[in-house]
Amino acid sequence: MSRIAYVNGRYVRHAEAAVHIEDRGYQFADGVYEVCEIWQGKIVDERRHLDRLERSLRELSIRMPMSRAALSQILRQVVRKNLVRDGIVYMQVTRGVARRDHVFPPADTPPALVITAKPVRPAAGEKAAEQGVAVITVPENRWDRVDIKTVGLLPNVLAKQKAREAGAKEAWFVDADGMVTEGGSTNAWIVTRDNCLVTRPAQSGILKGITRQVVLDMIERAGLTFDERPFSVEEARQAKEAFITAASTLVMPVVRVDDTTIGNGHPGETTMELRKMFHKVSELSSV
Ligand code: PDD
Repeated sequence: MSRIAYVNGRYVRHAEAAVHIEDRGYQFADGVYEVCEIWQGKIVDERRHLDRLERSLRELSIRMPMSRAALSQILRQVVRKNLVRDGIVYMQVTRGVARRDHVFPPADTPPALVITAKPVRPAAGEKAAEQGVAVITVPENRWDRVDIKTVGLLPNVLAKQKAREAGAKEAWFVDADGMVTEGGSTNAWIVTRDNCLVTRPAQSGILKGITRQVVLDMIERAGLTFDERPFSVEEARQAKEAFITAASTLVMPVVRVDDTTIGNGHPGETTMELRKMFHKVSELSSV
């Protein structure tokens, strides 16, 4: 079976799917995106992802390419056409195609929409989670609107490549005060020695992750202690547990930060409990 992508009104073979050379996403990274997990044939937290997509678009004065209901239908079609039961669905909206000029194109320029889906083997994620992953730290070098999920991801790309070359899964950005902001494509968490879950508040320096929000909901439900405050690299090194969250990794234990082993070097108990509970708390909608 060949993969199918949705590109500006058409379902096309993935291998032949293309956008115009003057798409503003291509030329200026002038666009936004979302990634939803597909779990056992269900879309995970679609409502919150579409809320965030709408917010990102609003912040950049890009129109929604169509109604939310229509977008939701196409998401489902793409997942169905690709027979994805476990994997991810990716959607990207750019300011559209126009003659290259930094300023916005005419107001009637239609935004461009691309949606793809791909299967991911659940066993691969489970295996990584059993062992835990390593992260490296890198200086924060992104703009101050990382709350907008834009396709302008060059610092993230470079940081994650550096992690890969160091044998790590993720890179944590560290701000000028020595505080961890977030990972290249994940939010960052620690569990302190007295069992307090800590993650940076979403007011500045991070993307307000949907997975992060679901984990906060789980923590409240379970009556666990938590603190939304910045934490330093030093505090992470001393932590009992650490983990990262994203739609693509769910709750993933971190067992090494640079050269420091976290806790006993194995995935933490609280982390694994949260990972196990995740789909009981997230919103699942049928494809
Ligand atoms: N990344 N921070 C950054 C910089 C991210 O790119 C992401 C998601 C997150 C976690 O957000 P959420 O829990 O809503 O997935 C935090 C996606 C998965 C990606 O770029 O592929």
